[in-house]
Amino acid sequence: MIKKLLLIGLLGMTSLSAYDLKTNMLLLNAELSEVQQGFISSNMEGVNSAIRRFKKDADELLGNKEKIKAMLPANKQAKANEATVAAQIIATNTQIIIDAIENKYNHSGKKRREDAQRAYTYIEHACFRCHNIVRDGVE
Ligand code: HEC
Repeated sequence: MIKKLLLIGLLGMTSLSAYDLKTNMLLLNAELSEVQQGFISSNMEGVNSAIRRFKKDADELLGNKEKIKAMLPANKQAKANEATVAAQIIATNTQIIIDAIENKYNHSGKKRREDAQRAYTYIEHACFRCHNIVRDGVE
């Protein structure tokens, strides 16, 4: 604990948790960009690989309310439930993409692509929603 406080003081950081949050956000952003790039270039292998990593990391960061709460700045911790909302939207829509790739429902290629592409935009929307409410505090 003393070491941790010393480090915070030395680095001029408000907390180590804020650092963790930023690092994790940059990771999610990089993975979601890879998914987007895969869709744009119709590289379904790329989508497949990136969406699975993204799904796991998004769930680990956003799916545990107490964990994300501890990473948020003190004045934003009351809004930690927004992370849970985002985690659910992301879980549903990453699964839609994976089901489309695996052709779980035996749909046409066109429908599978459109379902997966739409699901991707819903994931982005979940990110924006939380940034608006929690990060940027826009009411
Ligand atoms: C819990 C609500 C929440 C959700 C959901 C969320 N974010 Fe964030 N995001 C934040 C907060 C708060 C910050 C500010 C962190 C900081 O700067 O310390 C942030 C910052 C960021 C940043 C900026 C990092 C930097 O350079 O400062 C990126 C990029 C980002 N988020 C991407 C995403 C993506 C992509 C998603 C969706 C997969 C997402 N976020 C979902 C709350 C959220």
